[in-house]
Amino acid sequence: MSDDIRTPYFVGEKLFIMLKGKAPKESICLTTEQVLPNDTNPLNTLFGGRLMQWMDITAGIAAHRHCGRVCVTASVNHVSFDQPVKLGDVVTLQGKVSRAFNTSIEVFVDVWVESPTGGGKKKCNEAILTFVAVDQLGSPLHVPPVIPESEEEKGRFDGALRRRQLALILAGRMKAEDATELKALFLK
Ligand SMILES: CC(C)(COP(=O)(O)OP(=O)(O)OC[C@H]1O[C@@H](n2cnc3c(N)ncnc32)[C@H](O)[C@@H]1OP(=O)(O)O)[C@@H](O)C(=O)NCCC(=O)NCCS
Repeated sequence: MSDDIRTPYFVGEKLFIMLKGKAPKESICLTTEQVLPNDTNPLNTLFGGRLMQWMDITAGIAAHRHCGRVCVTASVNHVSFDQPVKLGDVVTLQGKVSRAFNTSIEVFVDVWVESPTGGGKKKCNEAILTFVAVDQLGSPLHVPPVIPESEEEKGRFDGALRRRQLALILAGRMKAEDATELKALFLK
């Protein structure tokens, strides 16, 4: 038996085996793109759909690196477009896993923009996505836990349960009365 195999546990009728945890830095994905004419809207700024595509790919690679499995996007929990990105700007995206549950993995994507005329990198966008590891038939597979290290990673890890409950309620997969984390947040 491999030394990364831990205690078996049940979720409903499904049997899972606890895998060895991994730190977010082990699966980080960095992507750099330059905004070209084909990426822009009529205002000559980056088209939001193109940025979402880059975010999805960057986050999906981080999820894949974390679990070593094919990962599909289950939900986009949050995207913010804080400022327009101009034609010619260089965009850097960082995908970093924040927490894993049984078969799902939450990934943060932080985006920075850099103008070719100087001024350094500025944070411009952020997204949070959830992926599910699947086998060749699309059935979910269990994933290793995430072990947060930095203060930011710990904060994102703690908030992930709240975001998961909200996503599952919006998807009609959880009843509001079962959302313990949300109740604690709103009904103090
Ligand atoms: C995501 C998918 C694999 C889930 O399959 P399923 O049969 O519903 O599986 P389950 O009910 O066992 O859920 C699996 C996990 O997905 C999570 N999940 C499902 N829907 C979710 C949602 N909307 N938001 C967040 N998590 C979700 C569940 O919480 C569960 O996580 P856990 O195992 O860590 O607790 C399936 O819905 C799918 O293949 N969707 C299409 C994915 C795709 O094609 N994406 C590309 C976009 S076009």
